[in-house]
Amino acid sequence: MIVSEFIPKPYKSLLDSGSVVYSSPSNIALIKYWGKKAHQIPANPSISFTLNNCKTQTTLSFEKKTTAGFSFNVFLEGDLQPDFKPKIEQFFKRIEVYIPFLSAYHFTIETSNTFPHSSGIASSASGMSALALCLVQLESYLSPGISKAFFNKKASFLARLGSGSACRSIEGPMIVWGAHANITGSSDLIGVKFPYEVHSNYNNFQDTILLVDKGEKQVSSTVGHDLMHGHPFAEQRFEQAHSNMDALIGVLKTGDLKAFISIVEREALTLHAMMMSSDPYFILMKPNTLEIINKIWAFRKKTGLHICFTLDAGANVHVLFPENEAKEIQEFIKKALVMHCQNEQFIQDSLGDGAQPIKI
Ligand code: DP6
Repeated sequence: MIVSEFIPKPYKSLLDSGSVVYSSPSNIALIKYWGKKAHQIPANPSISFTLNNCKTQTTLSFEKKTTAGFSFNVFLEGDLQPDFKPKIEQFFKRIEVYIPFLSAYHFTIETSNTFPHSSGIASSASGMSALALCLVQLESYLSPGISKAFFNKKASFLARLGSGSACRSIEGPMIVWGAHANITGSSDLIGVKFPYEVHSNYNNFQDTILLVDKGEKQVSSTVGHDLMHGHPFAEQRFEQAHSNMDALIGVLKTGDLKAFISIVEREALTLHAMMMSSDPYFILMKPNTLEIINKIWAFRKKTGLHICFTLDAGANVHVLFPENEAKEIQEFIKKALVMHCQNEQFIQDSLGDGAQPIKI
């Protein structure tokens, strides 16, 4: 499947060497992407909040070479990471037709995260989007005149080929990925800004990420997606994502936080229910994940505050709440929830506007 819109015209000339730097955020899905077809096409539409503080910064240095094939090294926080190479090699193979200069350079990819790698916080989303943005930035030097809109579209398109959810990290504050009948402009190929009215209740919405378990996941998202093939509940799940999206469109417009909570928590638990009913089955939640969920429910019942949770493919809990209830909820988090985190670690985050170039 080749999408000709993203194949560039031949470059007039190549730069000899240089570097580009981008910072790109993570995102947290409200309606989850879980299950995909060939070419990184999602099995259902998803929507996410772009985060503000959880970011990857990537420096892509390039130097012209004459040998054939791809040549690159990857560093995380200054340390060489041979383990990352296969995923990037696969990414390069998928995107070479759209980024024809890939084999003309030796690349040094230096990344650093503001959060732990492979902890259920979508480091692949911020990492792959940052790398995609660096590549499009370099391309914009080789073919000047690319519009900002096309730049973002191509970065999202490429990021998806690295990691599906990465295509939702280019812009903010809310991004839809996957074709949905009632969302104009939605596409399986790229993430687009949620195009409809959003109530002020969601302005600067808060996400406190509780780091329950920072260890490596036992089952990667890619393996989990694959287990949706032949999953006994797959079709109903994909239909449910479409109808939850319909419901969410209305809830975002009216600002009905009770209905928002019900959709978001149902999505999180359905995601994990899919994992628990795969063949082979697996569980990524930990006892502390459930402790936190139960405490959130009890606190919400007692106070009537609009606190809820969502989960990624991991044990960590994203605690979501509106800005005007932040004071009381943050106190509760510190007093009652942080004790369930590994080394009492958590990250205070909120809605963000997307990726940014870093001047060098
Ligand atoms: C549970 O985007 O990490 O976070 O496309 O295989 O790289 P790949 O998967 P990935 O899956 C993320 C799944 C999720 C839900 C979501 O972000 O929508």
